[in-house]
Amino acid sequence: MDDDTPPGPTPFESLGGEPVVLALVQRFYDLMDLEPSFRQLRALHPAHLEGSRDKLFWFLCGWLGGPQHYVERFGHPRLRARHLPYSIGIAERDQWLACMQQAMRETGIDPAFAERLAGSFFNTADWMRNRGG
Ligand code: HEM
Repeated sequence: MDDDTPPGPTPFESLGGEPVVLALVQRFYDLMDLEPSFRQLRALHPAHLEGSRDKLFWFLCGWLGGPQHYVERFGHPRLRARHLPYSIGIAERDQWLACMQQAMRETGIDPAFAERLAGSFFNTADWMRNRGG
């Protein structure tokens, strides 16, 4: 075994690989479109969500330890910088996290695993805040 090989499966593998990450992302943006409680979050996004779906899917594959589709296409994610054009405070952060929680639940992701992922999502989403309140 290569010294750099991490022990055990990656989160990407534990989750079920690309089909599950794709199903999660599709449900996430479907919910953003459907649920009135995510209205503010939806309003920040483009009219058509196809590009957003592709980018989040590519990003999450790599973020979870799977293939680096996003980096191959766009280079370093610079995620905080890429979110600066959008005003993100507590309400937007919490809507993003609630939308992702619901998507994980409805995609049938194991609840214990979903809880661990939720912690990582919180840290990333909180780091994206660029406005007080
Ligand atoms: C904190 C609340 C968040 C808000 C309000 C938000 C909002 C947005 C918006 C409006 C876009 C532009 C849509 C587009 O380019 O189609 C975007 C892009 C993106 N977001 Fe978020 N986001 C949030 C958190 C996150 C988190 C936690 C992640 C990852 C775990 C993430 C990953 C991405 C990615 C990968 C893109 C595409 C970036 C690009 O290449 O332009 N976002 N986000």
